[in-house]
Amino acid sequence: MSVKVIVTGGADSVGRVIAEEFLRRGARVHICDVRGDALRETLAANPEMTGTLANVGNGDDVLKVIYESQRAFGDATILVNNVGIAGPRAALEDISDADWQQTMDINLGGMFRLMRGVVPAMKRNRHGVIINFSTGSTRTRLPMRTAYVVSKAAVESLTLNAARELGPFNVRCNAILPGMIDNDRMKGIVARIAEESGRSVAQVEEDYLKYISLRSKVQPQDLAQTVLFLASDAASKITGELLAVSGNVEWEI
Ligand SMILES: NC(=O)c1ccc[n+]([C@@H]2O[C@H](COP(=O)([O-])OP(=O)(O)OC[C@H]3O[C@@H](n4cnc5c(N)ncnc54)[C@H](O)[C@@H]3O)[C@@H](O)[C@H]2O)c1
Repeated sequence: MSVKVIVTGGADSVGRVIAEEFLRRGARVHICDVRGDALRETLAANPEMTGTLANVGNGDDVLKVIYESQRAFGDATILVNNVGIAGPRAALEDISDADWQQTMDINLGGMFRLMRGVVPAMKRNRHGVIINFSTGSTRTRLPMRTAYVVSKAAVESLTLNAARELGPFNVRCNAILPGMIDNDRMKGIVARIAEESGRSVAQVEEDYLKYISLRSKVQPQDLAQTVLFLASDAASKITGELLAVSGNVEWEI
């Protein structure tokens, strides 16, 4: 069966590396992203890739992603739900309804909507793989990031429940829990913590790494390799798993 993949947030960072790795291996790939400039740039660099400008927090946009991926290659066999926003960095009592709602709509609602869109065909075809991105912070917990951590804990429940419900149809569903990714978003978070705490960026990074057993950050490529494995036949008996790719984050500060 040919491999047909949807990658959300596929125009940059981890999502782009995943999309390009699938493409390099001969898969058909359809990405979506909320940033038009990044989407255009990624599609121009990868002429065989198709894509939709979409915010996964919006139901109509997600319907468009499903429709345009169907038009590009038919039924998707693999869904990589990669989009996740950081949400508010604030004390619990200072989180606004709007920030809470947006974090849930994008991080949890987005994954649910994409799954709802692809699952009917996967069930009908009795074949499918869904990979959702959570975070290692659901294990350590993370003060000042309540909306994010709660949304990702719900992503894990969504994943595990779907694994039970869809297993009888040969649709597998797993989650990846990344640690500290070496990308712009993490650099931004580290810079902000440095500013708030009066430490240097290098010091904050060093403090993070003290609590990572392998003493190293995760590269987008590390995550892409895990996605490729989970999507492959080598993982044909793996479903309902929450897999950390983090160097073992023991604690977060
Ligand atoms: N960066 C980290 O250190 C880290 C750590 C743990 C978990 N994660 C998780 O890993 C995944 C990938 O993280 P990342 O750092 O590459 O993300 P990122 O913030 O770099 O965003 C990746 C892409 O998603 C797109 N995007 C953002 N909001 C969108 C929306 N509403 N609709 C469609 N596209 C949207 C962005 O434009 C971007 O191209 C996320 O689920 C994130 O929560 C990241």
